[in-house]
Amino acid sequence: MEPLKKRPLFNPDGEIDVRERRMINGNTTNLNDFNNMKYKWVSDWYRQAMNNFWIPEEINLSRDRKDYPLLSASERRAYDKILSFLVFLDSIQTANLPAIGEYVTANEINLCLSIQTFQEAVHSQSYSYMLDTICEPQTRNEVLYQWKNDSKLLARNTFIGNLYNEFQKDKSPFAFMKTVVANVILEGVYFYSGFMFFYNLGRNHKMTGSSQEIRYINRDENTHLWLFCNIVRELEKEEPELFTAERVEIYRSMIKEGCEQEIAWGCYAIGDEVPGLTKEMITDYIKYLGNLRCASLGWESIYEGHDREPENMAWVGQYSNANMIKTDFFEARSTAYAKSSALIDDL
Ligand SMILES: [Fe+2]
Ligand SMILES: [Fe+2]
Repeated sequence: MEPLKKRPLFNPDGEIDVRERRMINGNTTNLNDFNNMKYKWVSDWYRQAMNNFWIPEEINLSRDRKDYPLLSASERRAYDKILSFLVFLDSIQTANLPAIGEYVTANEINLCLSIQTFQEAVHSQSYSYMLDTICEPQTRNEVLYQWKNDSKLLARNTFIGNLYNEFQKDKSPFAFMKTVVANVILEGVYFYSGFMFFYNLGRNHKMTGSSQEIRYINRDENTHLWLFCNIVRELEKEEPELFTAERVEIYRSMIKEGCEQEIAWGCYAIGDEVPGLTKEMITDYIKYLGNLRCASLGWESIYEGHDREPENMAWVGQYSNANMIKTDFFEARSTAYAKSSALIDDL
């Protein structure tokens, strides 16, 4: 396969006709034209992503500062490890999304990737805010750089880093597609045993500010997952040779490997010592998520008998489906950042 053509920067002869627009190997003008979009779902995505705007410091963490030293040793160990992994994920997303965008030739998709990049930066900053609030600088640094001492964490970060590095070296459409699938895994599987750990603390009335931060992050990640699943579906229409049975099998096995890693990590970081969660709950939930992600891409399940959300995990949805509920779980205000009325009031 020919390597992908890098998207030109200034390209006055680029194609204006939306019917000619392509996700990869197209001829883009780079003009931000909000009136002519090939992919109709982008306007909804853009509106949702803009409404999701939030500021980490608006969430009060003063109770968490008191709660943190009172957590059990297992809870604190899990809190630190999971936060450390999440910082890594959001940092590498911030750095890698522009690298993907360099080869995307549909301008409306580049717009979405720019917004996502901004949000990943905010997520990284929210973890710093959490750590700065609840612990001393020495502990904060130990948490941030825990992969230097924890070989399991380093192995996870290396696996993801290598997936992304592959596209740095190999610019084939197939390597691009694998990077897109890696994003689906990251946004749709990797964050989740971490998220549910924080929600579990929240439902036990511990570290409620942290779980609130995570809810805002989770709401953004849902839109990121939506974006990357749609990129896959559009690529399937435009580049059918990337979707031969053999290749889809490779993508499915990537998702399975991602799930296996997430299960092993969840069992290691959380284990059976945290009240409210067990290794079995973590395992069942991640298998269910793996199947759900495959289903939304039109692919066969990877785990038999795990197509329904485990009943003992139904509480996760109360926290993670932020846009499904009208008011904020803890603060009783709308979670969407609809500021237009506030602006009128100020005049
Ligand atoms: Fe993120
Ligand atoms: Fe994300």
